[in-house]
Amino acid sequence: MALRIDILTLFPEMFGPFLGTSIPKRAAEKGLVSYQLTNFRDFATDAHKSVDGKPFGGGPGMVMMCQTVFDAVAHAEQQDPRPARRVLLSPQGKKLEQSLVTELARDERLLLISGRYEGFDERIIDGLKPLEVSIGDYVLSGGELAAMVLIDAVVRLIPGVLGAADGPVDETFADGLLEHPQYTQPREFAGMQVPDVLLSGNHQLIARWRLEQRKQRTQQRRPDLWQRFQSRLANEPCE
Ligand code: ADE
Repeated sequence: MALRIDILTLFPEMFGPFLGTSIPKRAAEKGLVSYQLTNFRDFATDAHKSVDGKPFGGGPGMVMMCQTVFDAVAHAEQQDPRPARRVLLSPQGKKLEQSLVTELARDERLLLISGRYEGFDERIIDGLKPLEVSIGDYVLSGGELAAMVLIDAVVRLIPGVLGAADGPVDETFADGLLEHPQYTQPREFAGMQVPDVLLSGNHQLIARWRLEQRKQRTQQRRPDLWQRFQSRLANEPCE
């Protein structure tokens, strides 16, 4: 059955171009995923259609209110009997890494809660118990872009979304190493050559060169990943 992704937001219009382009679009056309947008504003009950309020105790900005978020979540969840994994996008959340993306791609239903303003009333977190997810240590104006990042990373992992030729199997992070450099035509551009080994036709040599490049890059650019890679190797049982 297709993965169902509910997106709860104050700005559903931000998602149209993204969901209607490239891989997210292709995945939906193939029937492997479906997207449902819900606007918190539709669940506001007062004359002003309020979704936010001033923080108790003072301070700058506004806070997303409980009622509209709880009602929007209940509404979206009722649309499908399968239980949804609730995810709330927030800089306070667990850092999105490929391992978490893989885990989320196995779910049948994701419900993504994107907020605006200074954040959510804490009772939303306490009551709905979502998995809080951050896409990095920087602050965005809202969770929408973070939700799109998560959707993009998840959808391309669903079996059948990518063709066999561009499958996600041996790419960056699948095994903890960065990707090797790639080249295409022409063989020479502005005096810069494609490395000879890639033109050699010797697949074993090419594979060895690529692995070496991946290790070098990871060591130079991402010492954190390199350390993890090495300790994983050291802990692997000998054959
Ligand atoms: N909302 C605002 N900043 C964010 C971030 N870095 N990750 C996820 N959601 C956010």
